[in-house]
Amino acid sequence: MLAWRQIGKRERAGTMETISTVAGLRARVRQWKQAGDRVGVVPTMGALHEGHLSLVHAARARADRVITTVFVNPIQFDNANDLETYPRTLEADVRLLEDAGVDVLYAPTVSQMYPPGFVTRITVSGVSEGLCGGARAGHFDGVATVVCKLLMQTLADYAFFGEKDFQQVQVVRRMVTDLDLPVEIVACPTQREADGLALSSRNRRLAPRQRQIAVALPRIMRACAADITAGADVPAALAWAVCQLADAGFDPVDYVELRSELDLRPLATISEGTPARLLAAAWLGDVRLIDGMAVPIPE
Ligand code: PAF
Repeated sequence: MLAWRQIGKRERAGTMETISTVAGLRARVRQWKQAGDRVGVVPTMGALHEGHLSLVHAARARADRVITTVFVNPIQFDNANDLETYPRTLEADVRLLEDAGVDVLYAPTVSQMYPPGFVTRITVSGVSEGLCGGARAGHFDGVATVVCKLLMQTLADYAFFGEKDFQQVQVVRRMVTDLDLPVEIVACPTQREADGLALSSRNRRLAPRQRQIAVALPRIMRACAADITAGADVPAALAWAVCQLADAGFDPVDYVELRSELDLRPLATISEGTPARLLAAAWLGDVRLIDGMAVPIPE
């Protein structure tokens, strides 16, 4: 059965269908489900890179049918310039998704997603607050609202998200639990460039000099995480990282924080039983970079 499915997927490579309406998507998904296929969705805003493709590969390994959504979601941007300059590369995205063996590209228009009169917002309190939620008013309401719609539109059994956006994954998990959405959320590891910079669609907006500075973000975070594991005072280690980032040229540094991986509560120490994650966000010019990494707990 598995071999048949694998051959089936290979044969479908290059025959990706692009759908832009909920009715069209539902009809296709209904067919798949009648055939007993499990459906995976990879929600994206396009400008695809290897990080997104790793989510597609994870989806292909888990599900029989894979949908990738490309939708630059206006209601999660708190800044008009960020929305306007967000990279849009649909033609290149289509080629990458076809080669990756995606079955359906779902690319709705803004007016399909948010028809006139649309007013509903989903607020996931607690995990949405602070970190990126503190710096970007309404951002996670916009994310939760569109992800909920995408999950209901695709009726996916599995949805795949990158751990780079660690707070986003927690917001989506909480929403799925609270609203009893019948989908399993799968978080996949952050993909990095050879020099350690986390892959992000925003990286392509960095000027060459900014790209050189950007690598300081994971380097300083790794050093900070290692110091905390070695027993450094947590507030002092976080303050050190903020200063190092500012010295490297990040301006401003939005935050460097140590949080519980379970519920994102701030941690002042690390301890057995509470997996800890270092999270940071900082600006280079008008590009906001974020990163996160697990902080190993000493044996
Ligand atoms: O991570 C993203 O690209 C977006 O926040 C998402 C999950 C596709 C919702 O618009």
